This record gives sequence, C-alpha cells and structure tokens, in this order.
Amino acid sequence: MTRDQKQLVQATWKQVVPIADTAARLFYERLFEIDPGARALFGETNMTRQREKLLQVLSVAVSSLDRLDALTGVVEDLGRRHAGYGVTEAHFDSVGAALLWTLERGLGEHWTPAAAAAWTEVYGLLANIMQRGMREAVAAKRSAA
Ligand code: HEM
Repeated sequence: MTRDQKQLVQATWKQVVPIADTAARLFYERLFEIDPGARALFGETNMTRQREKLLQVLSVAVSSLDRLDALTGVVEDLGRRHAGYGVTEAHFDSVGAALLWTLERGLGEHWTPAAAAAWTEVYGLLANIMQRGMREAVAAKRSAA
C-alpha cells in the first residue's frame, strides 16, 4: 500500500466517522441482502454492540496503517475467533463487497477510483491476516481431535 493510499483511506474514514452507526447499519443490511446465509451467523448477536465492535476494529486498523504488522497478532486472533463463529473464507468476499458498497454510499463524490482501490487494498490485507488466523484455528482443532 502506498503512502497516498494510506492517506486516502484515513481521510475518507474521517468522513465516515460522523455517520458511522448509520453506515454500519447499512453494511449489515447489505451483507444480509447479498449473502442471506450470513444472517444466521448473527442469530444470537446484539447488533448494536456488534456495530460498535466492527467500527472500533476498523478505526484502529485505519489509524495503524503505518504499522499494520504491529496489529498482526490481534487481527490473527480475531480471525481465530471467527472460525468459532462459523465464518468461512468465502464469507470474506461478501463482507468485502458489502463494505465497499457502504463506503461508496457514505462517501458519495469522494468515492473515487483511487479511494476504491485504496480501500480494496486495506480490506484485502485485513482479510488475509484474519483468514490465516482462521486456518490456524481449524488446523489446531483438527490435530486436537
Ligand atoms: C475485516 C473483516 C472483519 C472484521 C474487522 C470483523 C470484526 C468483528 C468483530 C470486532 C467482532 C466482535 C467479536 C470479536 O472480537 O471476536 C466480530 C464478530 C463476528 N463477526 Fe466479524 N469481522 C470481519 C469479518 C467477518 C466475516 C467475513 C463474517 C462472516 C459473515 C463475520 C461474522 C461475524 C460473526 C458471526 C461474529 C460474532 C457475533 C457474535 O458475537 O455473536 N465477520 N467481527
């Protein structure tokens, strides 16, 4: 990720923060529309808290883009927990698509091709680290069985 991309992600995130809860609502609505199977994973979930948790992780990641490696362990652990929530690697495609769709709606004219490319990059980095954690959790469970 280039310096310009980091700055673009940080600048656009600042614009999302004032409307963050609405954006998070839109995100989950969109996710369940494009991936109806994902809804069942949140059957027992307090969605108000869930929106806060998602926004918090994204905020930390966006403010740490210069030292994402320092977050690797935390993001891998997040991925490990996701294996326990029944999440599969394929779900990351729908979550990524719903996230980009939401940012596009939230940012309007500020959603430029460069912003889209920068956010695609950031999401891809996070998703890869989480998926690695998920694979480790699945492998550990298998070898314990
Ligand atoms: C970059 C991608 C993602 C981020 C940043 C993220 C973030 C989070 C956070 C912070 C939590 C709170 C619980 C915890 O910390 O363990 C959580 C829970 C959860 N996430 Fe994700 N997540 C991502 C991808 C996904 C994907 C792909 C799915 C699949 C649809 C998913 C489904 C869930 C579910 C089912 C829960 C548990 C809800 C509960 O507590 O009942 N997440 N996520």
